[in-house]
Parts: sequence; structure tokens; C-alpha cells
Amino acid sequence: MPGFDTLLPRPVSVTPLPGTCPWPAEIEMRTDAALPAEGYRLEITPGGIVLTAADQAGRTHAQQTLRQLAGPDTFRAAAISAEHAVPCGVIEDYPRFRWRGCLLDVARNFRTKAEVLRFIDLLAVHKLNVLHLHLTDDQGWRIEVPGYPRLTEIASWRKESMVGRHDGPARDGQPHGGYYTTDDLHEIVAYAAERSITVVPEIDVPGHARAAIAAYPELGPETETPWEVWTSWGVSTSLLDPTPHTMEFLRAVFDHVLTIFPSPVIGIGGDEVPGATAAHGRLVADLATYLGTQGRRAFGWDEVLDTDALPPMVIGAWRDEAAGPRAVTAGHDVVLCPEDHVYLDHRQSDHPDEPIPVGYLRTLEDVYSYAPAVDGPHVLGVQAQVWSEHLDSVRRVDYAAFPRLCAVAEIAWSPAHRDFAEFLPRLRDHHLPRLDALGVEYRPLDGPHPWQTRPDVPPTSHRPIALRA
Ligand code: ACM
Repeated sequence: MPGFDTLLPRPVSVTPLPGTCPWPAEIEMRTDAALPAEGYRLEITPGGIVLTAADQAGRTHAQQTLRQLAGPDTFRAAAISAEHAVPCGVIEDYPRFRWRGCLLDVARNFRTKAEVLRFIDLLAVHKLNVLHLHLTDDQGWRIEVPGYPRLTEIASWRKESMVGRHDGPARDGQPHGGYYTTDDLHEIVAYAAERSITVVPEIDVPGHARAAIAAYPELGPETETPWEVWTSWGVSTSLLDPTPHTMEFLRAVFDHVLTIFPSPVIGIGGDEVPGATAAHGRLVADLATYLGTQGRRAFGWDEVLDTDALPPMVIGAWRDEAAGPRAVTAGHDVVLCPEDHVYLDHRQSDHPDEPIPVGYLRTLEDVYSYAPAVDGPHVLGVQAQVWSEHLDSVRRVDYAAFPRLCAVAEIAWSPAHRDFAEFLPRLRDHHLPRLDALGVEYRPLDGPHPWQTRPDVPPTSHRPIALRA
């Protein structure tokens, strides 16, 4: 039976008591509004369990804690052994940050609805509470919008994909695509809500929008025809044209998005806009202001801080740590997403077998040692990013995300003091068996399985590379 010292993320406080309680157990549910938001207290005695929570999220997190204590088998889809027990004791627990997020890029490489639901389950196991769903990009548009059928007919697929990094000529010759219907997205939102997870949708503007422009060329500059959904990776210089017509399109898109996603925060992107003019900035500010009139707040990446007349937003500080304080000083809230710490598409070792040589080298220990340098009421939390240019299957997403996302979960949930020497055996001996039971194809701690390597995409460099894509 796993002890309290196997829990991941590590709880705030534990008082072990003698004895065990058979599992599954009778759980008496109580509410105590005086507990911190999402917090819970578990009192486990030989005769049963009292679960006291501040709110529904606290109950969800407490159930995950109990599952961990009952042993890895409880993470399987069906019971394979009857006898389980949990140790007696008292756990008091609550999160360090209220935004504990993970971005999943379903635009570059589509993930099916079933795969997204499974990913939500995995977030819940780790007490993460935001799924930032990156729905649109140059390489694909993944949401149907009434009145704009070409978004699904044309923008939702590309004729082939680049193989490897952005400087290579190779293409795979394989059409790639997919999109979510409105009902699919309602289902994803409801499934996440049942697990106390908010889905923050992102429609990226004015860059990262070539798929939309391929469907409706009047949204783009006249310079480039014919348009097609991009088959390359990298940062495109083609931006949405900042015209009233584009704004009308975006209002229709976001009006639809708002009917699906109850999230108080809605992503509008704003990142990587080479050649952007003041008019592009105004488009972003107008869109953020429009969302404000609809009772929502826009989430934008830190490039938008260069834009005038922004309403209060949530800023994703990704390019460097200094963007955090800069955003707060400008009156925004901030989510810390630093590329050099929590971009999980980046490679995990500098071994030649490690797929694929993009981004910074970020080992599990590097990620775990990320210590947010800013704090305070406007720092909402921490978010990992799973960009998917080089993750073309759910198996590759598993490999990139796990176990590094376990480290991010602990940064976001547990008290600030951390010790990798304590984390590593807890992860290896107790948490990886949970991931095994869940069927997660994580990266083994000593390197990829042979079938997880990519000899077809040879490394161009064994040194850390400073740029993604
Ligand atoms: C980003 O990585 N372009 C936010």
C-alpha cells in the first residue's frame, strides 16, 4: 500500500496515524467554505473517510489523492484485484497557484476528441485545472463556425506536412486534418468541468492564421496567392489584414466560441507577428475590448504588451521571466509559461537518440527546478505548453508531456520548497507505475525506447537550439 510520501503533487501537510482503511471505503462528504479554494481535508480512519472540501474542485482533488493512496491498480480502466487499503491519517491540502495549466496544440497536429478527453483525465490526475486548447494556426483550423463552411472544408486540413525542423525541405506527402464539431466541443467542455478543469480556447490572431486565410483569402494580404494551408513549421510572416471585414469575421468566430466555452478567459494569441503594424495591434486591442463587453477577459501572449490601449488581460509570459512583472505593472494578470522552462515539446536530453532536436534542452530536472521568480495576487499561476509540430500522434504527446508534466504539476500545486533528490524516487517508484496503469507512454527516465526514437529525422545538432520550430 503506497504511503503518504508517494503522493504527487506533494500535499501541503500530512499527519500519519496507525492503521489502514479498506478501499473502496464509505466517504462522508462535508463542505467547509473556510478552506482555501480547491482545498480539501481528508481524515482517514480504520472505520471510514471524512472528506471535507471548500468546493467541488476540492472534492475532485481529494478523490485523486485517495486513488493514489489506494495503489496504481486503481488507475486501470477496470479493477484487476479486489483488495485495496489506504493508510490512516489526516491530509490538509490546497494549491499554491489558482491557474495550473497545460496548453495542448491541436492545430499543428490534430488530436481526436477521444484523445483530448483522455488528456483531460491525465490533467485531473495531476490536479491541473486549465486546458488551454490551441485551436487554430497556420497549419490547421479545428473548430466549425456557423456561416463559414470553408473553415472546415478547406482550413481544417493540409495536403502534407514538413518532416523535421523548419529548415528542411522534406515533406511526408500525407494529407493531415480534422476538426471538432460544436457538439464535440460542448462535450469536451462538459467532460473537463466534471473534473474541475476549465477549457480556455485559443483562436490565434493576427499571426498564425494562414489556414483561415486559405479558406477566406480576403482576410489576408493581397501579396500572396494562391493561399494554401501551410505545410511548413516555423513563424509565418503572413498576418490577418487588419480591416473592418476581418474584425467582422473575428466577431462571428468569437461569438460562436463564447457560446461553447464558459471560461472567463478566452485566448486570442497575439504571438509571433513579424512585420505587424499599429493597425494589427489595434485589431488585437479591439478584439480584447470586445471580449470585455461580453464579460470575458482575453488571454494574449506577451508580445501584445507592445500594443496600446489594451483592456486588462491575462498575459502568457513566455519569452522571458521579465514579461511577468511587465504585464503586472501594465495592469494585467499573468500566467507564467517561460519557453526556457516549461515548453514540453523541447527535447529532454542531448543524446543523439532523443527525438526531435527542437528548442531548448529541458531535462526533467531542469523543468522541476523551475522556480517562478514572481509572485503576488496578479500572478495567476503556471502553464506548460505542448506545441505539436513534431508530435504527430498521441503516443508522441505522451512521450513529450510525461513525466515532465508531473514536475510542472508539482510546481503549480505544492509549496514552493522542492528537492529533486526527493522527487525523483517518488516519481520513479510510485508515480510512473500509476502512469503505466493509465497506459501513458511516457519517456523512460533513462531514455527513449527504440520505438520512440526518430532515426528518420536525424539531428542537425546535438547542442541546445535556442529557437523552437
Ligand atoms: C508561443 O510559443 N508562440 C506562445
